[in-house]
Amino acid sequence: MPSEPAGSVAPPPRRAVRIGPSILSADFLRLGEQIAAAEAGGADFIHVDVMDGRFVPNISIGLPVLEAVRAATDLPVDVHLMIVEPERYVDRFVAAGADSLTVHVEASPHLHRTLQQIAEAGALPGVTLNPATPLAAIEEVLPIVRQVLIMSVNPGFGGQTLIPAALDKIARLRAALDRVNPTCPIEVDGGVKASNIRRVVEAGAEAIVVGSAVYAPGVDAAEAMTALRRALA
Ligand code: DX5
Ligand code: ZN
Repeated sequence: MPSEPAGSVAPPPRRAVRIGPSILSADFLRLGEQIAAAEAGGADFIHVDVMDGRFVPNISIGLPVLEAVRAATDLPVDVHLMIVEPERYVDRFVAAGADSLTVHVEASPHLHRTLQQIAEAGALPGVTLNPATPLAAIEEVLPIVRQVLIMSVNPGFGGQTLIPAALDKIARLRAALDRVNPTCPIEVDGGVKASNIRRVVEAGAEAIVVGSAVYAPGVDAAEAMTALRRALA
């Protein structure tokens, strides 16, 4: 094969970075306003965390709140199911407004079927894994997913600190996806803030979930979104 002349090798494509607030840390009495504020600050999607008190040691919100969020925004609604047996609820979460629906490999023994079910219901199928779960656990489904979420904290609570090992995991996942599903984006969730978002993106993430750095008492959500975007400039 003829070798490329020096300097003619195209650089890897730059992918646009999307930032989505997680409403888990929002003030639920003012949820509509809080979503609007994040939108005003340039949010690209809204992340909704569903916890069942079994897969994770916390209970958050479910279908009625998702329906309210769906009605309150035109942005894509990205639903993260931290529940056991997610296959039982796929159709209802898609009907309630999920544009993308992400399930945990640890919670879904028939993961391939669950992901197909999400696609058939009309949402983008996503898979995620806990910090202690190796990438090998999702290797077989990489060709059929439309996003992979790397958990950079142990799921269950907002406001935790990013686990640094997640950065290397993102980079290894990017290399694996480039082989089998190069257009599939990597999403990252947990402990991201203005001080580390750049490192997360440089590792290979394109969709960034941010909870407590956007929604916290005394924090202006629009300004916080702008600060995150500025940290990437
Ligand atoms: C954690 C949730 C996250 C959480 C992120 O289980 O999946 O989406 O809300 O919050 P921060 O950004 O505060 O870690
Ligand atoms: Zn989440």
